[in-house]
Amino acid sequence: MNNFIENLPKAELHLHIEGSFEPSLMFKIAKRNNIEIPFKSVQEIEDAYKFSCLQDFLDIYYQGANVLQTEQDFYDLTYSYLQKCAAQNVRHTEIMFDPQTHTDRGILFETVINGISKACNAAKENFGVTSLLIMSYLRHLSEDDCFKTLEQSIPFKDKITAVGLDSSEKGNPPSKFAKVFEASVKEGYIPVAHAGEEGNADYVWEALDILKIKRIDHGNNSLQDAKLVQEIIKRDLALTVCPLSNTALQVVKDLKEHPLKKMLNLGLKVTINSDDPAFFGGQVNENYKQIQQALDLSKETLYQLAKNSFTYSFLDAETKNKYLAELETYYQNNK
Ligand code: ADE
Ligand code: ZN
Repeated sequence: MNNFIENLPKAELHLHIEGSFEPSLMFKIAKRNNIEIPFKSVQEIEDAYKFSCLQDFLDIYYQGANVLQTEQDFYDLTYSYLQKCAAQNVRHTEIMFDPQTHTDRGILFETVINGISKACNAAKENFGVTSLLIMSYLRHLSEDDCFKTLEQSIPFKDKITAVGLDSSEKGNPPSKFAKVFEASVKEGYIPVAHAGEEGNADYVWEALDILKIKRIDHGNNSLQDAKLVQEIIKRDLALTVCPLSNTALQVVKDLKEHPLKKMLNLGLKVTINSDDPAFFGGQVNENYKQIQQALDLSKETLYQLAKNSFTYSFLDAETKNKYLAELETYYQNNK
């Protein structure tokens, strides 16, 4: 089964580039930039990665990101993630980045976007991995602050496909960002949002009805409301589920209790993703492997999950069909 997963062509639709920052690269970049980090060894960093909730994790995640200063740093971070994609048969990835995490400490928007997008171009050239970018607003900040980020992004619009909403969910409902999402859509960005990770079903409703999202990041708590589940199905919105993130942040107690199978049985379109792989114990293939074991998923289900990852990507129809055809051949030859 693990071999089937490793070779399965797939896409990753929920990945924070800052969350892919491995301790070893963090040390290397900290040294290069002469920045003190509050950890003495890779082991100390790994020991600190024990979280009891989303906020616990976010405090450490933002600390790590402080090390990133130059275009080269953002390039190295992104290229390192894309190398891992190639090794895992991830054909396509939709990468979230949090500009405010960097611009709020004086790094220019262009430094961030140029480093990330140059790495994406190089990875396409060197490994054939395609990618697109999702600019995520930090929901613990004000809507005015997000408007500033939207303005800064305009000269780089051709490099950005979608806007997202992440960070501390509780107390920061989607409705707080109604205007900036409306303006973002006017600029041509596709709206997505984290919803129903720690927040309740009413936050998912708001993300649907007010932000008009085209995909739901996490969405676990949608299951609280049967009407909402029906609405998500009616609108044909996929959920970007992140199993190891869910257990690391104690959204789900144990993988064996993960609602993924229930979601599929209800007719929800689920995809498997790593969220913040450097912090949560595994890349996307590890997420597939562990959830497969915990829920005893069949090859057919794994194929369906990979199929959803391409179908619900924001790729153009031609590229999407190319990947879907490759997946189909793989499945027919290996089922
Ligand atoms: N930022 C990075 N990972 C996140 C997550 N799982 N939820 C909310 N914001 C995040
Ligand atoms: Zn996330």
